[in-house]
Amino acid sequence: MISVQNLTKDYDTHRAIDHLNFTAEKGEVLGFLGPNGAGKTTTMRILTGFMSPTSGTATIDGLDVMEDSLKVRHKVGYLPETVPLYEDMRVFDYLKFMGQLHKVQEIDERVAEVLIQVGMDDRSQSLIKNLSKGMRQRVGLGQALLHHPDVLILDEPTIGLDPKQIKEVRNLIKSIGKERTVMLSTHILSEAQQICDRVIIINKGRIVAEDAPENLQGRVSALRVVYVRVSEKTDQAATALRELPGVLSVKVLETGRIEVENVRESDVRPGIARKLVESGYDLLELTPESVNLEDIFLKLTREASSENPPLEPEPNDSQESEA
Ligand SMILES: Nc1ncnc2c1ncn2[C@@H]1O[C@H](COP(=O)(O)OP(=O)(O)OP(=O)(O)O)[C@@H](O)[C@H]1O
Ligand SMILES: [Mg+2]
Repeated sequence: MISVQNLTKDYDTHRAIDHLNFTAEKGEVLGFLGPNGAGKTTTMRILTGFMSPTSGTATIDGLDVMEDSLKVRHKVGYLPETVPLYEDMRVFDYLKFMGQLHKVQEIDERVAEVLIQVGMDDRSQSLIKNLSKGMRQRVGLGQALLHHPDVLILDEPTIGLDPKQIKEVRNLIKSIGKERTVMLSTHILSEAQQICDRVIIINKGRIVAEDAPENLQGRVSALRVVYVRVSEKTDQAATALRELPGVLSVKVLETGRIEVENVRESDVRPGIARKLVESGYDLLELTPESVNLEDIFLKLTREASSENPPLEPEPNDSQESEA
């Protein structure tokens, strides 16, 4: 189990993560979703004991990631964002070496097994420096799995993989997540939807949404957009539409279209048409459009950044810079 309380990390004056609180249970796959720079990797590096937080605590199965960092590393399988591999070693020997560090029993058999799981059994004798990007990623994933960790922390596990491997790795993660705790980061919403039991959306170091993927989808469907075009006086028409019941926001786009966001339950189109025609506008277009998952993600992260500007970091003296 992963448990995070008020976890905060400042890089000098920049607050990368800001009082994060979440847990991930055994038997759960938790997705960590957010745009570039949201703080996903920072959180994962802290959870795996590779970096200290500025404040707050994180535990893995009750062990503090800083105080018990050695024990934590044995409990955790970590696929970092960039996998550090020994270039001059062969795949099999590298994994065997890493397994020995974790005192893995029957290491040859275990390495062979993991190589099959990540689809690298035919490359076991290749030098790591000769591997493609996706293959390196798979070796990194193999390394994370090797010692049967209770908790898996995977930083963008499917990045760089071909479609066949993406499918296999997703299935693998799902099956591991049935008995263990898995936390993974991704930019791909459909991936989170397919493999995660729960998703946290993070933006600028803060959690902006946390839910089961199907419920996030529900939030998506709770919004609808209608595009409206009038022949002239677009700004005035937009102002008139703002007052209509069911309308959440109205925006004039650069193209001259008016974007009307409304709640799903109410179809605002008749109201829009009536209002505009009665007020003497020529209505040229009235197009409804459903909002997809990507849009809700953008919306959630955009709203969070405009409504909650990041706090100034608290003064602290643990200014560490990373190697
Ligand atoms: N070593 C560092 N020193 C200073 N700032 C850093 C360092 N590492 C990350 N940051 C900053 O912290 C913020 C969070 O970065 P982080 O790598 O955690 O984001 P991320 O969510 O993993 O993004 P991505 O999706 O691009 O991988 C960013 O603004 C980044 O520039
Ligand atoms: Mg990252």
